[in-house]
Amino acid sequence: MTNLARAGTFKLGDRLVHRVGYGAMQLAGPGVFGPPRDRGAAIAVLREAVAAGVDHIDTSDAYGPHVTNQILREALHPYPKDLVIVTKVGAERGPQGSWDPAMSPSAIRRQVDDNLRNLGVDTLDVVNLRAMFDTMGPAEGSIEAPLAALVELQREGKLRHIGLSNVTRNQVEEGRAIASIVSVQNHYNIAHRSDDALIDSLAAAGIAYVPFFPLGGFSPLQSTTLSDVATKLGVTPMQVALAWLLRRAPNVLLIPGTSSVEHLRENLAAAELDLPADAVRAVDSL
Ligand SMILES: NC(=O)c1ccc[n+]([C@@H]2O[C@H](COP(=O)([O-])OP(=O)(O)OC[C@H]3O[C@@H](n4cnc5c(N)ncnc54)[C@H](OP(=O)(O)O)[C@@H]3O)[C@@H](O)[C@H]2O)c1
Repeated sequence: MTNLARAGTFKLGDRLVHRVGYGAMQLAGPGVFGPPRDRGAAIAVLREAVAAGVDHIDTSDAYGPHVTNQILREALHPYPKDLVIVTKVGAERGPQGSWDPAMSPSAIRRQVDDNLRNLGVDTLDVVNLRAMFDTMGPAEGSIEAPLAALVELQREGKLRHIGLSNVTRNQVEEGRAIASIVSVQNHYNIAHRSDDALIDSLAAAGIAYVPFFPLGGFSPLQSTTLSDVATKLGVTPMQVALAWLLRRAPNVLLIPGTSSVEHLRENLAAAELDLPADAVRAVDSL
């Protein structure tokens, strides 16, 4: 079994977590909508992750909606003491599966309550405000009102820590003036590096950076360079992509998503992969 400790730990809120975790979005049905084809397989992935030492799982009540959180509860409740479950609010699903912005204070409160109920907890560990000014990517706009709503819910004891997702540098600054921000979750991988400066500034501030789509998301990464590096090292391209992210900065926490136990094991094993300098340079040059 992989020794996740090989990749080290980083503080997420008030807890140290392994730098390789798991993202649960792939456990819902196609298009992250409705139930999965095989619920038992989804439960097996979660149990295997925790048995392998994963102590950081990313989710959202918008996955399904509700389905992924209900599967998490069925698979893992009562949750291990050291498990940090991070969820997100800011979007709700339409009847056909659309991702609809839902950032009014009342919508934020409703989503926090949905997460509490479906996960079966009294307090959420970390809640990310997922900015929804543009569904395609970060876009400017004030996050003050939804963030103030989260701060109020934090005071009420419904959540411990607050993070941000899909945000610009300006929004990170705005957010840090309103709340204590423990993590930023944005789109980043070997082929999508627009957050390079942000990652470094967050590292200096001790704030976790959690790349979503670390393997390319809905269009998994494909690159001849990546494949060549992997072949030379006797590992898989996805493992190289994850190991490169681990090398990128000490505050990077991984949440690769998969619906398969086989891929899960492969992804966790990236924690033990030390990329030699020439491999890092090759991926850098992509
Ligand atoms: N904040 C946000 O806005 C946001 C947006 C998107 C995602 N997220 C979070 O980020 C997490 C990660 O993102 P993601 O799951 O969308 O994308 P990802 O981790 O980049 O990639 C997942 C895709 O790669 C495949 N895959 C996984 N491991 C593989 C392997 N070893 N070999 C080949 N294919 C593999 C998966 O298919 P299989 O199921 O077949 O393995 C799935 O199609 C999500 O689970 C979610 O928690 C957050």
